[in-house]
Amino acid sequence: MADHSAAPSPKKKLYIETVGCQMNLLDSELVVARLRQEGYELTENIQQADAILYNTCSVRQHAEDKIYSALGRIKRIKERNPDVAIGVMGCMAQKDQAEIFRRAPHVDIVVGPGQLARVPELLAQVRAGEPPRMAVSRARKDGSLETIAASFQTYDADREPAMRPTPFQAFIRVMMGCDKFCTYCVVPAVRGPEQSRPPEAILAEARLLADQGVREVTLLGQTVNSYHYRLPDGRSFRLSDLLERVHDIGGIERIKFITNFPNDMTDDLLQAVRDLPKVARYLHVPAQSGCDEVLRRMKRMYTVASYEEMLARIRATIPQVAVSSDFIVGFSGETEPSFERTVGLVGRSRFKNSFIFKYSARQGTKADQLYADDVPEAVKKRRNNELLALQTAISLEDNQGWIGRVVEVLVEGPSRATTRRPGWDGLEQLTGRTACDRIAVFDGTERLVGQFVRVVIDAASAVTLFGRVETTERVGATERPATPA
Ligand code: 5AD
Ligand code: SF4
Repeated sequence: MADHSAAPSPKKKLYIETVGCQMNLLDSELVVARLRQEGYELTENIQQADAILYNTCSVRQHAEDKIYSALGRIKRIKERNPDVAIGVMGCMAQKDQAEIFRRAPHVDIVVGPGQLARVPELLAQVRAGEPPRMAVSRARKDGSLETIAASFQTYDADREPAMRPTPFQAFIRVMMGCDKFCTYCVVPAVRGPEQSRPPEAILAEARLLADQGVREVTLLGQTVNSYHYRLPDGRSFRLSDLLERVHDIGGIERIKFITNFPNDMTDDLLQAVRDLPKVARYLHVPAQSGCDEVLRRMKRMYTVASYEEMLARIRATIPQVAVSSDFIVGFSGETEPSFERTVGLVGRSRFKNSFIFKYSARQGTKADQLYADDVPEAVKKRRNNELLALQTAISLEDNQGWIGRVVEVLVEGPSRATTRRPGWDGLEQLTGRTACDRIAVFDGTERLVGQFVRVVIDAASAVTLFGRVETTERVGATERPATPA
């Protein structure tokens, strides 16, 4: 590697854009942490950058199109300044590989999600004038990806507060990859086989984050509730065990985990959520469809009945739990009656919210090989809108049920939803999330940011609770927030 220590050169500027899931946000944080050690600092001005990085997503075509058009737009920057290094990282890098160089010849590095620890080295090489570089994980004989670089454990320990949602909220990877192979999904092909990180590495990272002032951690895994690690003495260490241990860490006051696979929603996990007060009573458990035939072709390995049984078990175990879901509409062979079954499931399930996606055929997936993408775009769109309208009505009803009640909110910062408040009075407003992941907006001052406050809810939309900070006493003219119960 080049020695940068000799000349006290000015800082190199890094511009980075991230699309996709929380795993990608975390990956970007880790890459930036590494590049800071190499003398980079962040810039928001792409024109001034010495390195431009895109962390990409392949889950739907739309996410890829966005990146290819961004690459098209920055071609002129490269023409003007051939020294700028352009990198494509993440899922699309793994999926498209050298195709990216063909479609965008001004790209210098292509780095898959399993090889991100190599970004600094590759950037240094191309900036020193070497030809474009690619680092992707290789496919094994059976078609699955080779195990991700062994360096990821130390790699995960470098953190970069400036890249987090807020300085007091952080993601922690507990597992990588996915072994479920749902037929529509590109993730197993781009992020490789499922691997759980050792508990000690995760706990050390959680302690480090707590020392940096983090109060809320979100444990990440493609199917986070499948987490399992075999301890040296042969015992199995599961997500419920991990939650218990993270719960013991002083300073961390709220713990979330995403995303869950329905079949792995075990009782020990539900009991841990019920019994550990710091664990958010919020579970994201994607159903994807409400039709058995579609679920079979998606290879989800459950039926609508067993999904609903699981949902009932969640609600019987954890009082006041909020559940959210994902749905794909217009999957191959989805007929009007099968879509109506999904409508039925959404109607019955009372999800806090659902993310609804139009099916996007992905190269390299089983569904793309086996089934035709046979639902017309207009039909996908209509089904998407219809399902969304139903879910929105349910979310609104659910949120209105909170009017008059008190919620505990971790204050994240100034609100962008301010002007959406019915009868908005123009005061400064803050936003944060409740323990069940609902968004709350209320009047307040900046010193509440990073604090937990109790908020009395007095209005609601489908996505937001509106209220005011609860006060129990008045000292002179200042109102003090109540102590959380
Ligand atoms: N097309 C549309 N949506 C998809 N998802 C995953 N793969 C696809 C696809 N090929 C959705 C699923 C998943 C969420 C992250 O994205 O609902 O839960
Ligand atoms: Fe995340 Fe999947 Fe998109 Fe990769 S393809 S960024 S794992 S959502």
